[in-house]
Amino acid sequence: MRQIIMIAVSAFSIAVISGCSAKPEAHESREHQMGNENHSTMNATMMEGHMSHDNVVHLNDSTGEHDLKIPPLLQRDPGEEIVYTVRAQKGETELFDGIQTKTYGYNGTFLGPMISVEKGEIIKIKTINELDEPTTFHWHGLKVAGDIDGGPHDPIQPDEERVIEFQVAQDAATLWFHPHPEGNTAAQVYNGLAGLLYIQDEKSEQLGLPSQYGENDFPLLFQDRLFDDQKQLNYEAAQNSDGTIGDTLLVNGTLNPKLTVPGEHVRFRLLNGSNARNFTFKLNTGEPFVQIATDGGLLNKPIQMSEITLTPSERAEIVIDFSSQNNKMDDLALVNEDGSILLPFDVADQHVEKSTLPDEMNDFALTEEEKSLPVSKKVELFGMMEHVTINGKKFDPNRIDFTQKQGVTEVWEIYNKPDMMGGMIHPFHIHGTQFKVISRNGKEPPENERGWKDSISVKPDERVKIAVQFKDKGIYMFHCHILEHEDNGMMGQIKVE
Ligand code: C2O
Ligand code: CU
Ligand code: CU
Repeated sequence: MRQIIMIAVSAFSIAVISGCSAKPEAHESREHQMGNENHSTMNATMMEGHMSHDNVVHLNDSTGEHDLKIPPLLQRDPGEEIVYTVRAQKGETELFDGIQTKTYGYNGTFLGPMISVEKGEIIKIKTINELDEPTTFHWHGLKVAGDIDGGPHDPIQPDEERVIEFQVAQDAATLWFHPHPEGNTAAQVYNGLAGLLYIQDEKSEQLGLPSQYGENDFPLLFQDRLFDDQKQLNYEAAQNSDGTIGDTLLVNGTLNPKLTVPGEHVRFRLLNGSNARNFTFKLNTGEPFVQIATDGGLLNKPIQMSEITLTPSERAEIVIDFSSQNNKMDDLALVNEDGSILLPFDVADQHVEKSTLPDEMNDFALTEEEKSLPVSKKVELFGMMEHVTINGKKFDPNRIDFTQKQGVTEVWEIYNKPDMMGGMIHPFHIHGTQFKVISRNGKEPPENERGWKDSISVKPDERVKIAVQFKDKGIYMFHCHILEHEDNGMMGQIKVE
């Protein structure tokens, strides 16, 4: 099936992208990951170049020419209340030396700032649309009421603004924000609309984890793009209804990035902000690293990993020990599954004292009661390209697919129904909540998924059970986070009352 190896079409080389979430230690065998479908069912259309039904476009190595950009920390507006202003804007950005690329951004020409909020705070965010098309401001992973969640129901017209207010009511986590206009999310994100939202809390601040922003605690927003001959992001030309992928990697909007790190424990907040590409991150030396957080917060304890797969919109926080790498330090890099260089490192200061990682970080638990609840919501993901559906239906803004009671936990079963050609991974996301993974195909989830999640990869023929609870009321989206699938209608709505 397609997750294994695709036809290399002229310039594109074969890339093998593994489909499953990383396992703490060893790798599952490919056969196991991929299922046992017959590969000969690939049809002529696939061979003619519908390559993106899988991640087959090879990603170019980072040459390390540019220092990694660090998103600026967004300052509060002056005044007594906590108010942030976020503007969606258009502009030009020098991604390639000496060339201006037309881009979108928040409070700037490309991507967005990092907004850092503290648990318990009451926050206002003034959102302003300075684009010449409608947009929305969606807070991915944030537990807020449906009417301020920024889904497709809340378009903000050009030159309009809207103020939302909420109390930060969840633990420390790396969240993000991006637009969600109906049918036009993929293009706006592709052009550069995406920003970071950090939640901080006292409990996590006392753990002694690396937490100096831009010094030993770095966000890494990974996005692949296809630039045209003029080095422009031409979404219409690049667009693929099964997920737009490109050969060029941007990390925090930096082309060919390199990062200088101190010789100590360094924390990275990985975010797969791609429209469709899956990444499997590992170190080129094969050295392990530890994972400390999932989408929605800290794991109970650091987990040693040799690699980690993130599908679009998933996050993971990892810590890499740069003090123990001495002899191999020179060419150390974060690489993708196939070895392509994502981010080369330079290790600066060898004399800093290395922090120790805590043994206990959180008290996340899946209760016996949650494990024994019957499945009360079934979600079937199916199809490819324009034909993607959830439970056989396409998104209809006037149809409520599910209802659930505020504060009541229900078990959702997400099933990825294979098609004739095997199928593909769909990253499934629910708005306004952080959920718990109960099982994957009846088995306990891997150790590194025993933490809060808001997006989860579901492989072909896989059944994932999750325990879902909403803190607030309102209408929320659930959808595949391959942005073209979402735009093509692989999305439903739940009303929480
Ligand atoms: Cu990242 Cu519907 O969202
Ligand atoms: Cu979301
Ligand atoms: Cu999908």
